[in-house]
Formats: sequence, structure tokens, C-alpha cells
Amino acid sequence: KEKGKSEKKKDDKKKDDKKAAAKGPAISLDPPSGTRDFFPTEMRFRNWLFGAFKETARRYGFQEYDAPVLEHEELYKRKAGEEITEQMYNFIDKDGAAVTLRPEMTPSLARMVLSLMRAETGEMSALLPLKWSSIPQCWRFETCQRGRKREHYQWNMDIVGITSIHAEVELLSAITTFFELVGITSKEVGIKVNSRKVLGAVLKNAGVPDERFTETCIVIDKQDKIGPEAVVKELTENIGLEKAVAERIVNATAAKTLDEFAALAGVGESPEVIELRQLFTLAEEEGFGDWLIFDASVVRGLAYYTGVVFEGFDRAGVLRAICGGGRYDRLLTLYGSPKEVPCAGFGFGDCVIYELLKEKQVLPELPHKVDFVVAAFNQDMMGKALQVARLLRKAGKSVDVYAEASKKVAKAFNYADRAGAERIAFVAPDEWSKGLVRIKDLRNFKPTDPDELKQKDVPINDLGN
Ligand code: HAM
Repeated sequence: KEKGKSEKKKDDKKKDDKKAAAKGPAISLDPPSGTRDFFPTEMRFRNWLFGAFKETARRYGFQEYDAPVLEHEELYKRKAGEEITEQMYNFIDKDGAAVTLRPEMTPSLARMVLSLMRAETGEMSALLPLKWSSIPQCWRFETCQRGRKREHYQWNMDIVGITSIHAEVELLSAITTFFELVGITSKEVGIKVNSRKVLGAVLKNAGVPDERFTETCIVIDKQDKIGPEAVVKELTENIGLEKAVAERIVNATAAKTLDEFAALAGVGESPEVIELRQLFTLAEEEGFGDWLIFDASVVRGLAYYTGVVFEGFDRAGVLRAICGGGRYDRLLTLYGSPKEVPCAGFGFGDCVIYELLKEKQVLPELPHKVDFVVAAFNQDMMGKALQVARLLRKAGKSVDVYAEASKKVAKAFNYADRAGAERIAFVAPDEWSKGLVRIKDLRNFKPTDPDELKQKDVPINDLGN
């Protein structure tokens, strides 16, 4: 009877386990919608990518900076109808402060530069130009699609204090250097360049007041999404432009060249057009002109851009904008700077570039690797094995210790293979008594034939060499 009871208990437990398995785990195993876990494989890719971002910034003489992911909400309170201000992860904290996860880095950079100016009692000229770079995580409540998520890391490079077009040229040059570093060519990717200043001249000629300029840009930026007719409608109904003017602007944005644009828009050889032409000439002379194309329809969706704007795109037309940026000379004034501080920069997300590298089949192979696995012959040798591991680590090697002391060599080999080890160090009594450790080279490891391995008995004191 007793036996029957315990068997029944076992059966019940099995049933319960089955039920629980069918129900699934008690918590969701996915991270919140639009966010990512970085398992070691993804983390290796991220580190590799960030390495290329940082290396590019280093080659251009930029300094790294960072800021908190939580920001004052007021930094993003702009009234031009930008999408970004509606996508914030904002809330009132327990102090009653209106805060948000940053949707972008530029306002934080502006805040930091302004605080430096304060500290320098307004005398910034000695510090300028600033060339700063960062890789912040940014949060936007977006509709998720390929290359667009609710959090992304966004490499930023910004130059503060240079009024001339040389700032933009340097930034565009850096983007192309990055692409080359990761194996992307100008056949696959281009950068569309335009200037809001040129558009500004068009609007001025058409009698549009300056204060309506930003809103007009935001409407024009929607052309890809809503089409030219809807843009004309918004420009006439919401901004109050005459229909003929709105149509002229929309027609001009279809121009294929800068000359055509200037002619269609009726601005001729204005200073804005000359400046943009100079940018293309400098890029040509430096040697990256093949990456750039003029595109009158690119205005970018952020309110603060005042001059050149640009956007990296995939020439196959499959992916969304790869990166974007431009000149924003009035953001610091908006935040209270007594004088205009010229700024230009770009943001480059980590999602679209991943899709692009995958598409072009140039994603790097990044297996996990260690220099050594150290294995002890038996439990008595474990302490010695740990000594060997410490010596190797002190010499800068990456070392994984096989936690089981076992005479079964094959098990240690399997472990070393899985750990991605280049070499295995066997710590066994015979060699140890002669002050030696047996090192086997696994780089051409064939599990079927471990005797094939090159092996050497190395004096303990030479292990780090
Ligand atoms: P943005 O055009 O809004 O500009 O974003 C720049 C880049 O960030 C995009 O081209 C894309 O690569 C990436 N990105 C933006 N949103 C997402 C998303 N939801 N998921 C994945 N990637 C995304 C700015 O944010 C400006 N603050 C850039 C800047 C810096 N301008 C001057 N300095």
C-alpha cells in the first residue's frame, strides 16, 4: 500500500511538471517590445561595431563624452510638430520632475556645451572648436520595423565652433571612412546632401516669414511618406503658403542636380548654393566625392537643423536611412546662449548598419576565443593548475580553467574546443616535477586525432612568453 502511495505521488508530480511545461515559464522571456537582449554572440558584434565607431572618431581627432540616459523633458519641447517629441519615454519622477529617456543625444550635448560656457563665463573661444563623439543608447516609442526599434545605440560625432562648410566635410569624410573600415563601398551606400539654407532662400523669395521656416521643413520631410499632393495641401492649409508657392517648392525638391534646383527654385547663384557647391568640390578633392549625391528632397525631420543636412542611404533602396545629420547653429541660442554657437554633427544607429552588413554578406565572424584552457591531471594538481592560470593571466593571456580534474584527456580537449582555446596547458605530476607544463597547440585541432597536436613542454617561468 505504502509503495502504491509513493508511486502515485511521483505520477502526480510528473503530471504537474507536464502542466507547468505546457503553460510555459511564469515570466515573459522576451525583453519589452522593440528592445534587445545582447547575448554573448550579439555582444561580440556590438563591441566590434563600437570599436569601428570609436576608431573612426579617433582617426578624426574627436574626444569621447557621455551623458545620462535620463534627461530633462524640457530639452525636447519643440513646437514644430516633429515625430521625435511624440515618441518620448517621458514620465514624472518621484521628485515631481518631468524627465524622459533621451530620444537622441544632440540636446544633451548642447546642454553640456552650454554648461561649459557658463563655467568659462561666456569665454568659450579658447576651447573651440570642440570635436566630440559618443555612442549613447536612445529611446523612441516607434512602430518597430526592420532597422527601427524602440531602443538603439547611436554613434554621434559633433563639431562645435566651426562656421564654415569644413565641419560638414570632415563629418561626411568620417562617415565614409567608417563604411570603408567595415567593408562597405560607395557602390553600395551613398550620402544624400542638401542644405536647408538653400530651401530658406527659396522660401524667403516666396515671401514665407522666417518663423514658419522650421515647420515648412518638417512638412517637406514627410514627402516620402505622404506624397507631394499631401505636402502641397499641408503647406497651403497649415502653413498658409499660396498654392503656387507650395507647388513650386515641391517641384523644386524633385530636381536632380544643384543647378537644376537653383534654377527651378529661382535662387540662382546665391551664397547658399555656392557654399553647397564648395562642399561637393572639397569632398571630390579629398577623395570621397563618389559617396555624395545632391538630393533636394532631403530636409531631415528634426527642427533644429539650419544649414547642410545629409542622410546615408543604401543604394539598393531596401533599407531605411543609415545615418543622418546636419548643421544646427541655433540650438544653443534656443537653450539660452547669448550668442549663436555654430554646430554640426550626425547620428548613426547600430540597427540599420547590422541589416546592411548582413545584406551585403560582410558581417564579420566573431567566435569566442581564449588563449589557453588550463587542465589539471588530477585533483592533487588543481592548485598547481590554478597557479599556471594565474601566471598566464598576469602575462596578459586570456585563460579558462577546466573545472574538472580528470585523467580523461578527451574531455578536457572537448572543453577546450568549445571554449575556443588556441592552446591547452596540461598540468600533470611528471612534467611538474621537472618544472614543466605540457602545452598543446589546438589551432589545427582534429578531435579524432589528438596525437597530431604540436606539443611542447615549457618551463613554468617561461609560460607567459
Ligand atoms: P535622427 O535622424 O533622428 O538624428 O537619427 C539618426 C540615426 O539614428 C538614424 O539615421 C538611424 O540610423 C538611427 N535611428 C534613429 N531612430 C532609430 C530607431 N528608432 N531605431 C534604430 N535606429 C534609429 C538624430 O537623432 C540627430 N540627433 C543626429 C545628430 C547629431 N544631428 C546632429 N548631431
